[in-house]
Amino acid sequence: MANIVFVAKEITGDETRVAASVETVKKVKSLGFDVIVEAGAGTLSRIPDREFEAAGAAIGTFADAASADVVLKVRRPSESEITGYKAGAVVIAIMDPYGNDEAVAAMARAGLSTFAMELMPRITRAQSMDVLSSQANLAGYQAVIEAAVVYDRAMPMMMTAAGTIPAAKVFVMGAGVAGLQAIATARRLGAAVSATDVRPAAKEQVASLGAKFIAVEDDEFKAAETAGGYAKEMSADYQAKQAALVADHIAKQDIVITTALIPGRPAPRLVSRAMLASMKPGAVAVDLAVERGGNIEGVVAGKVTDVEGVKVIGFANMAGRVAASASALYAKNLVTFLETMVNKETKTVVLNLEDELIRATMLTYAGDVVHPAFGGAKNGDN
Ligand code: NAI
Repeated sequence: MANIVFVAKEITGDETRVAASVETVKKVKSLGFDVIVEAGAGTLSRIPDREFEAAGAAIGTFADAASADVVLKVRRPSESEITGYKAGAVVIAIMDPYGNDEAVAAMARAGLSTFAMELMPRITRAQSMDVLSSQANLAGYQAVIEAAVVYDRAMPMMMTAAGTIPAAKVFVMGAGVAGLQAIATARRLGAAVSATDVRPAAKEQVASLGAKFIAVEDDEFKAAETAGGYAKEMSADYQAKQAALVADHIAKQDIVITTALIPGRPAPRLVSRAMLASMKPGAVAVDLAVERGGNIEGVVAGKVTDVEGVKVIGFANMAGRVAASASALYAKNLVTFLETMVNKETKTVVLNLEDELIRATMLTYAGDVVHPAFGGAKNGDN
């Protein structure tokens, strides 16, 4: 009998995405697995059960997870979900492990081999498995769309017989994957765009998208990028200089979009209430870092609130607001990773514990927490 891959329906209220697409179901079948999709799993991503069925999947219920060798999810399974999985099953999801040690330990106790997609190393081989990029890209796009919806003016400059409307001024803070897509999207809508980041590499990327780069470019800035390509937490001195520069600039902006994150740390606070108060009437701010504490003072997760006269958009799971697109890319990331684990002869998952992708992403294995960042030693001590 073929091994079983189970695609779970997400149980978290605001999760609209699904961990499979028609294309990836076909792919998993072609690798020699049976696929069971939990009924309704794709509904919010506009994939009806019948389309999964036509692609070769069986439609099942949560009870079918008990027979699965592999479980594909968007979010980390809850305690109630993991009790339904069999020991030894491989579970792949966005695990959000930082600060959730107990939840990670529970997955270890259940004997699951769990993998956190967001810990995928950013190396060439793993680019097609990079969920942070695939989801951040859509989040950056959607942030601009959401801002445009609540902004009471037109975005592009319009020269008409009745007069000229100026282009909206958009300032993007944090020019990583999400920020760069936000810049590109705002430019497409005709806005005048500026951006900031603490990594020097961002300067050229921002300029190449036609936006103006604004940053405190001191010695600390020149050393702010880690070997992994991420930002470091900046010193209090740098943050003060950055705040002074931003305060001047932000007062002239119509829309601010913040995306700044530091891996494993709370999001840096970049926009104060006083800065918001200095903005123009009708100004809009979008905080894409809200799930990690937010870049904007006063932001409320999941809500649009008025802070000092600025509409502050704090939607969590921004990629989930374009769920059909986000699921298609996420599912492809997952199946590409799963494929690296499959033994083509036996048509089973065989974990090569020496593989760099496995070592980087594996949280729990054979009853233990194994990831060094979460108290494990097994794949970190060599
Ligand atoms: P991220 O989501 O961790 O952070 C977003 C942005 O916020 C980053 O650009 C970061 O420098 C910036 N930031 C942090 N603290 C800040 C502060 N105090 N003020 C202003 N900005 C601040 O980063 P993301 O989007 O994941 O990208 C990080 C880097 O990784 C980028 O250079 C990106 O191009 C690179 N990358 C490489 C990939 C590869 O496969 N080689 C794939 C994807 C991204």
